[in-house]
Amino acid sequence: MRSFFVPTILVSGALAARPFLNEPDTGLEQVLGNTAEGSLPDLTDMVGLPDFDWAARNYLPLQNYTYYRNGAAGEWSYRNNMEVFNRYNFIPSVMNDVTEIEDSLSTTILGHNFTAPFYISPCGSGIYGHPNAELNFVKGAAAGGILYIVGNYPSLLSYRANIPRPSGYASLSIEEIHAAKAQGQVVFQQLYLTKNDTETQDLFDRSKEAGADALVFTVDAPIFGTRQRAARLDVSLASSSYRYITWDYYKKLQSMTDLPIIVKGIMSVKDAKLAVKHKVPAIVLSNHGGRQLDGAPSALEVALEIYKKAPEVFEETEVYADGGVRYGTDALKLLALGVKAIGLGRPFMYSNVFGQEGVERAIALMKKELAVDAANLGLSDLKEIDASYVQWTHNDWSG
Ligand SMILES: Cc1cc2nc3c(=O)[nH]c(=O)nc-3n(C[C@H](O)[C@H](O)[C@H](O)COP(=O)(O)O)c2cc1C
Repeated sequence: MRSFFVPTILVSGALAARPFLNEPDTGLEQVLGNTAEGSLPDLTDMVGLPDFDWAARNYLPLQNYTYYRNGAAGEWSYRNNMEVFNRYNFIPSVMNDVTEIEDSLSTTILGHNFTAPFYISPCGSGIYGHPNAELNFVKGAAAGGILYIVGNYPSLLSYRANIPRPSGYASLSIEEIHAAKAQGQVVFQQLYLTKNDTETQDLFDRSKEAGADALVFTVDAPIFGTRQRAARLDVSLASSSYRYITWDYYKKLQSMTDLPIIVKGIMSVKDAKLAVKHKVPAIVLSNHGGRQLDGAPSALEVALEIYKKAPEVFEETEVYADGGVRYGTDALKLLALGVKAIGLGRPFMYSNVFGQEGVERAIALMKKELAVDAANLGLSDLKEIDASYVQWTHNDWSG
């Protein structure tokens, strides 16, 4: 008995400490492993969002891929963003009519209609993935009927000379990106702001003039994070001064535009409640994809804390969330807590290596997964999901 018991403990200990997997083994290496470095597989070979990460890594110059992939410091938050979803099991319900689930994905975001409750998170520098850069996101989002939040105004960042980008292609301006919109397409504009009111007013006015339907003020990056992976390859963003970001400043910003200003980068119950107090129309629970403060909680952990300690927040403002979402099931767990819309950053940046078609395929795959997973969870309508569909205590098999 004893000789059996001891190894069992050792084995379970070893399993608990299993290594992080950027893309879990689903057979992709066996099928695409021989793809020549620097070339792309067929788009139809992309069967899930993690596949785009693999394809971008295989295709892009190392510096370009690293710019997208990197996280802060030891990248613990980057990894936790993905792993956290597997710590909670679903509580499926069977014997329900789920045949109409695909018709129930649509939602509203700040009153605008979209075909699904997920969107393209704002990410700078689409140019490092494809010559058409952000245009692929605008057009892909239009084709898929989802929201695109345009990343920071590219020229605010100094492009690194050593990151290859196609010659002749410059970064796109706010005006150029919004000009690519389809008739009636709703697009939001994310901004990093400095305390310089003239500059801020100019960005607000230009965003409005270009047709942005809302602004997104990123508050989790008073200075760009310590990014060792990027520093190693010299692809860190130059960011030498600390930005002034306070609730008083937010109040002032509200007086400078009539566009709604969403606050992106909320990571605590306290700040979520303060956002409600300051009449923020929507917040994004986000740790910036683990690129800012290593050790910052994932959006799922923050959403769970809000659900337990201040559930009224989900009624008092619209709550969106991003970070580590790679599967339909990840999105379902956020929706279950009351999150209204879910952002995906890197998966779309990676899908962009295939151009607009890649972005469209990523949207289609995510929609299909959401519907299939919701059906297998036992939902007749995606909007029926609530916290009772998930066991909110850690399971013991995720390590
Ligand atoms: C390459 C890259 C660039 C980003 N640039 C911005 C940005 O300009 N503004 C911003 O608010 N967030 C930015 N983010 C954060 C994303 O909006 C989002 O919070 C994050 O990517 C979500 O995590 P995910 O990549 O795991 O989906 C960036 C993320 C990446 C990966």
